[in-house]
Amino acid sequence: MAAVAVRRRRSWARFALACLGLCLSTAFAVDRSNFKTCDQSSFCKRQRAIQPGFSPYRALLDSLELGPDALTVHLVNEVTKVVLLLELQGLKGNMTRIRIDELKPLRPRYRVPDVLVADPPTTRLSVSGRDENSVELTVAEGPYKIILTGRPFRLDLLEDRSLVLSVNARGLMVFEHQRLPRNSFSEKVSLTFGSIWDKIKNLFSREERKETAEGNGSPNEEAAEKADQPEENREKDDKDEPGAWEEMFKTHSDSKPFGPTSVGLDFSLPGMEYVYGIPEHAEDLRLKVTEGGEPYRLYNLDVFQYELYNPMALYGSVPVLLAHSIHRDLGIFWLNAAETWVDISSNTAGKTLFGKMLDYLQGGGETPQTDVRWMSESGIIDVFLLLGPTISDVFRQYTSLTGTQALPPLFSLGYHQSRWNYRDEADVFEVDQGFDNHDLPCDVIWLDIEHADGKRYFTWDSSRFPQPLAMLEHLAGKRRKLVTIVDPHIKVDSEYPVHEELRSQGLYVKTRDGSDYEGWCWPGSAGYPDFTNIKMRAWWANMFSFDKYEGSASNLFIWNDMNEPSVFNGPEVTMLKDARHDGGWEHRDIHNIYGFYVHMATAEGLIQRSGGTERPFVLARAFFAGSQRYGAVWTGDNAAEWGHLKISIPMCLSMGLVGLSFCGADIGGFFKNPEPELLMRWYQMGAYQPFYRAHAHMDTGRREPWLLAPEYLGPIRDALRQRYALLPFWYTLFYRAHLDGHPVMRPMWVQYPKDVATFSLDDQFMLGDSLLVHPVAEPGARGVQVYLPGEGEVWYDTQSHQKHHGPQTLYLPVTFSSIPVFQRGGTIIPRWERVRRSSDCMKDDPITLYVALSPQGTAEGELYLDDGHTFNYETQNEFLFRKFTFSGNTLTSSSADPRGHFETPIWIERVVILGAGKPASVLLETEGIPETILTFHHNAETSVLTLRKPEVHVSTDWSIHLR
Ligand code: GLC
Repeated sequence: MAAVAVRRRRSWARFALACLGLCLSTAFAVDRSNFKTCDQSSFCKRQRAIQPGFSPYRALLDSLELGPDALTVHLVNEVTKVVLLLELQGLKGNMTRIRIDELKPLRPRYRVPDVLVADPPTTRLSVSGRDENSVELTVAEGPYKIILTGRPFRLDLLEDRSLVLSVNARGLMVFEHQRLPRNSFSEKVSLTFGSIWDKIKNLFSREERKETAEGNGSPNEEAAEKADQPEENREKDDKDEPGAWEEMFKTHSDSKPFGPTSVGLDFSLPGMEYVYGIPEHAEDLRLKVTEGGEPYRLYNLDVFQYELYNPMALYGSVPVLLAHSIHRDLGIFWLNAAETWVDISSNTAGKTLFGKMLDYLQGGGETPQTDVRWMSESGIIDVFLLLGPTISDVFRQYTSLTGTQALPPLFSLGYHQSRWNYRDEADVFEVDQGFDNHDLPCDVIWLDIEHADGKRYFTWDSSRFPQPLAMLEHLAGKRRKLVTIVDPHIKVDSEYPVHEELRSQGLYVKTRDGSDYEGWCWPGSAGYPDFTNIKMRAWWANMFSFDKYEGSASNLFIWNDMNEPSVFNGPEVTMLKDARHDGGWEHRDIHNIYGFYVHMATAEGLIQRSGGTERPFVLARAFFAGSQRYGAVWTGDNAAEWGHLKISIPMCLSMGLVGLSFCGADIGGFFKNPEPELLMRWYQMGAYQPFYRAHAHMDTGRREPWLLAPEYLGPIRDALRQRYALLPFWYTLFYRAHLDGHPVMRPMWVQYPKDVATFSLDDQFMLGDSLLVHPVAEPGARGVQVYLPGEGEVWYDTQSHQKHHGPQTLYLPVTFSSIPVFQRGGTIIPRWERVRRSSDCMKDDPITLYVALSPQGTAEGELYLDDGHTFNYETQNEFLFRKFTFSGNTLTSSSADPRGHFETPIWIERVVILGAGKPASVLLETEGIPETILTFHHNAETSVLTLRKPEVHVSTDWSIHLR
């Protein structure tokens, strides 16, 4: 039996390798035919066929009811007569929520659970005005009013009488009500989408005709009359809508037992020209207009060899779009987990700057406006309008709903060394030793799927990893960690207890007929645990306890891959949409949230295994709104190409904008072999991106840094050292993200919201509000053009300390060792300058403060410290949050949060002040201790003042006076 199993395993491995080899030898490009276009996704096609201006929806204003938490009103489709229930809520903190569902659905529609951290607190709405076709609503705590128009249904949000956002202004709302299947009685009375759309158009043209003839018509009666007529062209309609009750894609059939159920809505954003977000796409930071092309697609997919600059779906989805102008920011959060498409149009699209100027000279031209249309295959309409008005407000609003970035354990901000695969324990030891031998810091070594016994996760290949505990102990001795991969597909093998338990407990996703759903993935035939089921998640979490996951220890952390879920033989490499989940929901309803639940269950497992005390680290490939609460994400299977290096900036910036701060790209590129210069530049780029991991496909050559020639290894070492020196800064930025939802890595426009020149920039970015990073991303680069924004702003080159004035585009000559990074004048950054083997070896090291003075001679910054790995910061207030301020020639350290207390040996060993004159003397004043004189050094050429050995403890209040 065992021999057969081994043989089977080997042949499957050979088959997989052959496939991979084949794939790798062909040209690098996605096979687009594997993935649907909007036209091939029947609901997208149906919805996109609707043109603006024909909305059949009417709000029945007489049905309006005002409750303490919400206003409700009925919406009727004037053609089908189906009544919907609209629920409108004013939310605290300047947000509005709109929910639309069928008033009397045949069966309940999916409402996305578990993404919101709580029921958002509401604020009262009251009616402040009314005429025969509209109602004006005032929001108790908020500067805005809402006008609800009856016919056609429309909502306008106004602030100080100016329109901020309109809902259904273009009349593109769609709500495909549920109906009984064809051949049943209801077929005779129900209308297909095509026929409804014809009727709508008819209705409008008749209406127009009638209005011209009689001056006034009754569309309601008209519609009633029309709808009651027999279905003459029923056959034609059925032919017109081949995807409504069953849909084919390639050889895959989607049975659609509940028929068409899609929803859609449009939003008009006057004054807005720049929109961002809706990751994940390999796309520029600023979203493009999609008219005439494909909409952006949100459908978590394992896309082999993804292409750059296109709107195809990738591994994760966050249905949040942000709009920015020099006047305001706002966000739209479309809470729907089904396949979703987003169309963007704009009245300024295609106009050149010259054209816009001409408009302006000829009397102002049109106000710019962006229109956004969301289309989802099922579920309800549940949308949050995040009304800013600033981008900081939008960050706070969105994360108040879905949670902020989990505070990562300190080690996870260090460097991670991965490849598919480290062969065996000896290989792991060698790699670990390689870092020490070459004086390179590293925190984590990763093991990919080959470490497990035949891709049976939670096990070890006993010939290659016979003593995992000893290996973990060895790494612990080096103060390093190990990450193993645990994918959410489970090998179908009656001798694999994980499979047997899941099967016998009925915890797998089911097919439409109720049997266990099986698909192909790395282990061959696999079952897919139903992570939407709370019992399943509890079971999974328990698997990470040390006694269940044998060979694991407290320095082992987890990587969840393939959680889209990836199904090699499924439609679009994923699960059949008519597969069934807990509660009878179809996979169609929950697809985009599956990966979120895998991530959640694993993070909970790691917390649980420590008895609730330790913070988890889990990396996941698929994600959804709220995934930031569970750990890190990465941009999947990129390639060793310069274009992929560049795209890592906008991809991670887009994720950061919607809460996912802990983002990174495979350093070096996953597919193909990077030339040494590319690998070196990637280490430099990655050093300044939140998640810093090198990873590579099994068919690529080994590429540990020491395998490169010294001219490349040197700059890689520098990059790693810069990363480690900045760890206190990174940790503080993550704490900020955790506190108030501000992204760690930020687009330039977030810092300079009124500088139009920054709105499309994505070859440089900010870390917090302090560092501007413009990594070198071109082969053979001799210089880079860095845009240093800000009227009256100064920027200090962190390598030369040279000061530059903003705004300007600076040409900066570069060499191999250059990573252009600038500290903004007016900020203070903490560093650990004694770089060691791993972050754990540095965590008690003294701090150096870099004070970069503004032209006014001021600066401020902060430092967050705790034990780096437990929840004690939260449960026991065991942390230090310090604030540093420089003004009037005095640098002060005070507490930014008096609740915090934390025993630490850390002291301040040096203060470096950039842009400072030479003082006559420097005095240190600490509470209760007589003033002491500090020694200093001033470099007149660079204006750098270095204060040596203040030797003050990091937790004390002190002032340093420059006299
Ligand atoms: C997927 C992952 C990749 C991993 C491979 C094998 O392609 O994206 O990172 O190495 O699977 O597990």
